[in-house]
Amino acid sequence: MQEASQAFIHLDRLTRNLRLLQDLAGPRPLWPCVKANAYGHGLEIIVRHLESLGIDTVCVAHVSEAVSLREAGAEAAIVVLSAPPPEACGAIVEHRLEPVVGSREVLEALSRARVDGSSPVSVHLKVDTGMGRIGVSPEQMPELVARATALEGIRVRGLMSHFSLADEPESTFSQTQIEAFERACAETAAAAIPFRHMANSAAIFDWPESRFDAVRPGIAMYGLRPSIGVAHPRAAELEPVLDWVTRLTFLKEVPAGVGLSYGHTFRTERPSLIGTFPVGYGDGLPRSLSNQMQVLVGGQRCPQVGTITMDQTLVDVTALRGRVEVGDPVVLIGQQGAERAHVDEWAETLATINYEIVTGISARVPRVLG
Ligand SMILES: Cc1ncc(COP(=O)(O)O)c(C=O)c1O
Repeated sequence: MQEASQAFIHLDRLTRNLRLLQDLAGPRPLWPCVKANAYGHGLEIIVRHLESLGIDTVCVAHVSEAVSLREAGAEAAIVVLSAPPPEACGAIVEHRLEPVVGSREVLEALSRARVDGSSPVSVHLKVDTGMGRIGVSPEQMPELVARATALEGIRVRGLMSHFSLADEPESTFSQTQIEAFERACAETAAAAIPFRHMANSAAIFDWPESRFDAVRPGIAMYGLRPSIGVAHPRAAELEPVLDWVTRLTFLKEVPAGVGLSYGHTFRTERPSLIGTFPVGYGDGLPRSLSNQMQVLVGGQRCPQVGTITMDQTLVDVTALRGRVEVGDPVVLIGQQGAERAHVDEWAETLATINYEIVTGISARVPRVLG
């Protein structure tokens, strides 16, 4: 059966991106972020590949994501980055997950949930150094560490924090965050916590002093820049891992002056050859890109026209008249001939970030090996 569209996942590019990140990280382990379906790239495909490369720890956001990974057979340690609700403690223990914890209450709930005789629950204690989300202040950390070490069945594997402005290298706030984290590390040094970790993709590039004992790359591993602000020249080597490809399902000649698709937001100005492809906002193609994006057909950039609907979208292929047929590939994201359609173009048009675009590609689009 011909799929309406497919997201091709290129593991060779993923490997090269990881190699680049490892060059920057030096001897420290990479703990890749595979939350939100591996940033839309397909959780299982990505984690299987990471494990085959010897990566032994990955990060997700929610306990449910970690449980799916375990059920798919993943053996790596799984750090759960979001604050877990107390009722998730049973699943954390059962599936040997490593929650990020920023409160005594959760530590105590985890200790209670641990089954006698089972191995201790590994936790990562979170310092809020300026993200303002979860975690305790550097000053409160010694007390949290003391509570964790006193509790039965809890092992502190990590002390961690998260940046709020790492992708703005000119901002001095990241330096302030690093110093706050160093303070928390110094005040808890006696506890000999094996991993202090803080760096996301942008920090791996631009804040070398934040690399500590492990780093947590997300977006860069998928070959996308954390922001255009990243200063490090090697960010230019990143290769997007995901290509999104569909085909023309219909072609028709349309006279001048005809309104197309819902709301007739586009009207032909000349006799036009209009193609249809079977992708819409139900697949994660943002409707707000309507009449503002281009796709690749026949190795050329062709303007998308009319309102993007839930399932089908139009493209003006007049420039390809006589050289285009139903069934021809349409590249939404990726390379065709000498042309490249990059997810950053969409993000810029929509005044958002590439993260939102790739994580928004819906479950209707199969992720397949490219
Ligand atoms: C706690 C934490 N660490 C690391 C990352 C990875 O960030 P990035 O995708 O910018 O590398 C994220 C992602 O948002 C995160 O929430």
